Amino acid sequence: MSTPDGYRRVSIDSSRASEVLHVDSFAFAFTVPDKDRDFLTQILPWERTRAIEVADASRGTVGTLAAVHASFEFGMQVPGGHQIPTSGLTWVGVHPGHRRRGLLRDMIDDHFERSLGRGEAVSILIAAETEIYQRFGYGLATSDIQMELGRSVGLRDFPGADALIVEIDTANVDRHGDTMRAVQARQTRPGMVTQWDSHTVADVLMDLDADRDGAEELRIAIVRDGDEPVAWALFQRKLGWGSSGPDGRTRVRMWASTSPAATHRLVKVLTDFDLMSTTVMRNFTADDPLLLRIKDIRGAKLAVRDMIWLRVLDVPAALQARSYAADCDVALAITDKQLPGNEGTWRIRASEGTATVTRTDEPADVTVAAQELGAAYLGGTTFAQLHAAALVSEHRPDAVRDLSRAFACEVAPAGNLFF
Ligand SMILES: CC(C)(COP(=O)(O)OP(=O)(O)OC[C@H]1O[C@@H](n2cnc3c(N)ncnc32)[C@H](O)[C@@H]1OP(=O)(O)O)[C@@H](O)C(=O)NCCC(=O)NCCS
Repeated sequence: MSTPDGYRRVSIDSSRASEVLHVDSFAFAFTVPDKDRDFLTQILPWERTRAIEVADASRGTVGTLAAVHASFEFGMQVPGGHQIPTSGLTWVGVHPGHRRRGLLRDMIDDHFERSLGRGEAVSILIAAETEIYQRFGYGLATSDIQMELGRSVGLRDFPGADALIVEIDTANVDRHGDTMRAVQARQTRPGMVTQWDSHTVADVLMDLDADRDGAEELRIAIVRDGDEPVAWALFQRKLGWGSSGPDGRTRVRMWASTSPAATHRLVKVLTDFDLMSTTVMRNFTADDPLLLRIKDIRGAKLAVRDMIWLRVLDVPAALQARSYAADCDVALAITDKQLPGNEGTWRIRASEGTATVTRTDEPADVTVAAQELGAAYLGGTTFAQLHAAALVSEHRPDAVRDLSRAFACEVAPAGNLFF
């Protein structure tokens, strides 16, 4: 598809930050006070920021921005411990005066072309609304658990956890950026983005009045083992009063940990602030050891949340970048109207952990659409589950089982980065 009539694609730099903010504040319905208006200059990777401009007076004032998007340059963990160059789609917004004319569709084409041109074999995003991106081949690659924990949640004792040191401060890029990065760099689950550049750190620590909704400034809790940081959490408390006294709420925005003991200590601290009766914390995987140590799991009000939506942009590069848990030899037909380079049948031969992926003219054993391939890529959703949901078709007995076993992952994939 081409850019809709009356518009043109443009690259933009930080001199147009206020125009980007104008589009996104209309798209996402927020207002930023004057003092905070330059925050996008630090957050956006400007060499990867694109827009659609009005090119014809029939659409508005020529040269004004109608739509924007950007992408972060990520390295993402995949099964087997390797990293894959990944394009993290972000700040997608179409001004309400220009919506439903195909501008998002054109920006997605632009994003795919440019990401592929940079050698990024997959794209990921966190969805504002879940329906938007499925039509573009993004599948749900990681889901996680949110918990609503009561004051001093009952946890079974964890040997050694109480000896870990905790430090609490107001979050700040200069004081805490490197500490957060050090812990993040040790994340191993598939889906984790482990190397954060300065844009990502600025984005993670962004603390606008407009987002606080009456809560305090952004705070950080850091857990240390001696001098070594082993976990951190960004959180905000909001004081409230109920009929029986204080009824505040702690919201954990993001967290990372390097060990079950560090997670244990972090959760103990985050659920034990004076005047707070509830702590909301998400990004727990179903296999997180903490879940086994909560005495009243029902009282933790578990809720499953979607996290990473993933789009395979380059089938052979993406599939050869990850490891495989079992051998397989399967001809996989992929339907992908938007990226014809992926469309067709691919033979996946996995042996001793690695796979070769080559085009084949032989009949397909299994057929899958781009969206479902994205869902299965990190090993969080199995081909067997997709088959049971009638989302993949099997043409040879046991071919789905073989793919399922090969794509399986020992640990649940997860993301902890909202971008
Ligand atoms: C969501 C948004 C980007 C869509 O932009 P747009 O230019 O109107 O979208 P397009 O006209 O290119 O629509 C492309 C397709 O997506 C569909 N679509 C668009 N927004 C949708 C939504 N919110 N829910 C479901 N489908 C949606 C359209 O119906 C269209 O479908 P079709 O191609 O099958 O006909 C825009 O409305 C917006 O900025 N919304 C607020 C901010 C936001 O949610 N951004 C996404 C952040 S993750």
